Amino acid sequence: MNFIDTKDNGLVAVEDLYVKDLAQKYGTPLYVYSKAQLVEHLRAYNEASGNVEHLVCYAVKANSNLAILQLMASLGTGFDIVSGGELARVIEAGGDPRKVVYSGVAKSVNEIEYALSQNILCFNVESPAELERINQIALDKGVKAPISIRVNPDVDAGTHPYISTGLKNNKFGVPVNTAFELYKHALTLDGIQIKGIDCHIGSQLTTLNPFVDALDRILNLVDRLADAGVKLEHIDIGGGLGVVYNDETPPSVSDYLKVVTQKLAGRGLKLICEPGRSMVANAGILVTRCEYLKQGEVCNFCIVDAAMNDMIRPSLYSAWMRIEEADHSLDREVAKYNVVGPICETGDFLGKDRVLKVASGDFLVMHGAGAYGFAMSSNYNSRPRSAEIMVDGSVSHIIRDRESVEDLWRHEHKIN
Ligand code: LLP
Repeated sequence: MNFIDTKDNGLVAVEDLYVKDLAQKYGTPLYVYSKAQLVEHLRAYNEASGNVEHLVCYAVKANSNLAILQLMASLGTGFDIVSGGELARVIEAGGDPRKVVYSGVAKSVNEIEYALSQNILCFNVESPAELERINQIALDKGVKAPISIRVNPDVDAGTHPYISTGLKNNKFGVPVNTAFELYKHALTLDGIQIKGIDCHIGSQLTTLNPFVDALDRILNLVDRLADAGVKLEHIDIGGGLGVVYNDETPPSVSDYLKVVTQKLAGRGLKLICEPGRSMVANAGILVTRCEYLKQGEVCNFCIVDAAMNDMIRPSLYSAWMRIEEADHSLDREVAKYNVVGPICETGDFLGKDRVLKVASGDFLVMHGAGAYGFAMSSNYNSRPRSAEIMVDGSVSHIIRDRESVEDLWRHEHKIN
């Protein structure tokens, strides 16, 4: 079900509201999310988990706006976090820390203390040194820290190298054999309580094979651990399910979880998953306005008011994201453009070789922008960050104000 769609009159709408009206009301660049689409994506995960005891831990990093976390929390979701800041956000949004799993290779003493004090569900431990640190902190506090070990199964997720995490040469997790020994060691630590096992092999996976390979390796380890007296309560399969940006054909949530739940049948393990992108990417768009059209010698430029500081994915990962006119009914010449932003870098583009019917002042829509869009935005070139709004039927809520220029230097100090 698509809640972000082009209507018969040629206007792109988010639920019951036209994008061009939202752009006029709130200004651009503007992130717009559909509440119904978010709810739908979460429903798909819960439904596909079937009768298996499970917890969806939304990966906060994909989009950490309080209103989005609040919505997820109100629907009973847990959260996958990677920093103390994300935990603070989850709590501020009304999330339950007892449904929080904490991943990341560099958890600081402060962050571990904070997470322990909030009684999170589990630390996903990424190294022997981290296990020792968590144990020591828990001992000092007279508590037991709940942990999983993040296992690096050494499978090739086949994604962009920057977002592949399950290979030997990635910094994440511990190799299968090390994990086996580390679990046995963890059994001997008084500050540690073993809860589960965890893996996350990468992001934007468009086939099931890497997931299946990774799961087989993890389950093999689970069996070896059981024989060695290490009993686990849950298995966390991470996130990573791909979405459609262009012509990808990722597995559906239900196909993905069907394979997983079949493999888990009869094991008595609770299933945890950590979806980020597949929850939010296609529940959000970035709306931008064309400032100028410019003819170059070899290509045309559509210069828009959004830039790589608002949406860095095309620049950083050569990501292709669909761009269309917010109003297809306008009478414009068709031409091919490189859609570029105001930032003073050649790498500042949103899309290349796009066929558009556009004139100065028109609004364009970038799809798939709900994940790793605003969350990765910055103030580069002293550009105030965009506003974010959430559409719920025919109502729009502002969920982040557009930054002012004063916000740009709010934390800076001149020296007298
Ligand atoms: N769990 C862990 C431990 C992760 O590191 C990630 C993402 C997720 C879950 C969620 O993965 P997802 O379901 O979103 O694929 N900025 C990049 C993506 C980076 C992903 C980092 N880790 C992008 O824009 O493509």
